[in-house]
Amino acid sequence: MKKRVGILISGRGSNMRSLIAAASLPGFPVEIVLVISNAINAEGLQHASAAGVATKVVSHKAYETREAFDRAVTHELEAAGVEIVCLAGFMRILSTWFARHWEGRLLNIHPSLLPLFKGVHVHEQALAAGVRVSGCTVHFVVPELDAGPIIAQAAVPVAIDDTPDTLASRILVEEHKLYPAALKLVAEGRVRLEDGRTVFSKG
Ligand code: GRF
Repeated sequence: MKKRVGILISGRGSNMRSLIAAASLPGFPVEIVLVISNAINAEGLQHASAAGVATKVVSHKAYETREAFDRAVTHELEAAGVEIVCLAGFMRILSTWFARHWEGRLLNIHPSLLPLFKGVHVHEQALAAGVRVSGCTVHFVVPELDAGPIIAQAAVPVAIDDTPDTLASRILVEEHKLYPAALKLVAEGRVRLEDGRTVFSKG
């Protein structure tokens, strides 16, 4: 049985597209059943619809608290029978309630080699630190921002003349490969969250 996956976006949705593309391949253990955006003008929404995936807009502006918004998003996800949630450029800070509710079933991709360079302006942080490699991380989400147990990482070199944009583009190429690979592992039950750690099964 394929796992039912929902994706949360706020913008361009290129990682969402890579997940939708992977899920369309035979044998991929996931069906993308719903894409939710908090922003009505998120470019990714059109791409999802064009690919035949159901979309919903849940505007955070309609809710007084983060948790009320997160409960409304959860209501939509659960109505669609979602089992695993992928954050893909979802620009809202999550409530503790949401992270706990979806614990072990909630993934995020971040464009650095965590635990380095959490939060925003990630590539600026990397260039300011002078690192010679950077990359991306897929991790289970916990209440603390960008702090969850790591599932997979990919590294890229940092060029001496990189700008935040050139570094971001080089990392994005890897993100599009890493996120589907990490989701596959979780969907197949080969990776899981146990006692706050990522556990890998052999085989
Ligand atoms: C990606 O770099 C992702 O790692 C970060 O936000 C960006 C989203 O890009 N969380 P996209 O919307 O998937 O194109």
